[in-house]
Amino acid sequence: MIIAANFKTNLTRKQTASYLDALEDILKEDDNSQEVLVFPAISSIDAHEGRVALGAQNAYATLNGAFTGETGSEQLEEFGIKTILIGHSERRHILGETQEELVKKFNFYKKLGYKIVYCVGEPLDIREDGSEPMMEYISAQYEGIDTEYENLIVAYEPVWAIGTGLTPTLRDIELLHLTLKQKSTAPLLYGGSVKLDNIEEVLNIQNVDGVLVGGASLVVEDFSKMCKIAQNIDDKE
Ligand code: 13P
Repeated sequence: MIIAANFKTNLTRKQTASYLDALEDILKEDDNSQEVLVFPAISSIDAHEGRVALGAQNAYATLNGAFTGETGSEQLEEFGIKTILIGHSERRHILGETQEELVKKFNFYKKLGYKIVYCVGEPLDIREDGSEPMMEYISAQYEGIDTEYENLIVAYEPVWAIGTGLTPTLRDIELLHLTLKQKSTAPLLYGGSVKLDNIEEVLNIQNVDGVLVGGASLVVEDFSKMCKIAQNIDDKE
């Protein structure tokens, strides 16, 4: 399974470094073989040795150049970063990234062979319009995206479930994931208020290949317990 932590704009460089040290130690102690990804704040990214892969929460579709405030692939690769999150709802809705911009970013990083965690998900008002408009909305987020890209991971994150403590029912997640698997056979993560006390039931849903965790990933003891739960489920299968 894939267990991913998105720190968003949290934890300093120093805090991130000690988090990663602790996480590596615990994963080793637990003999954990799950795929673990961590997306720190961009200024906290550093060269990292170990089995945890670090990824960028965002970057610009460029190697380098005159793009004030942005990060290019050259800056990522200095630290061995080959994983990127694209299309997160906070980038779509707060930072105003359009599908066209996301496609450009996707294609740029695809060409460089990055592992891309591509996020999709609907806001509450769209969900309330019913399942047809909701699926149309989500389908539009697949437009221009190579759903067969070999290093693609898709993350379904309903916007209204992010950071709110609300989650869809397990049945809703199951149905949505079943539908999304028809669009792409890439591993499909669920994200949105995943925490220690619901991760097990979420990971047990069919077509859930892992999780993308925000707030609850910030404490290393909790996140490593989540990785352990994933391992236990895998061991039982
Ligand atoms: P929360 O886990 O804080 O709801 O955030 C989910 C998310 O946005 C992960 O990318």
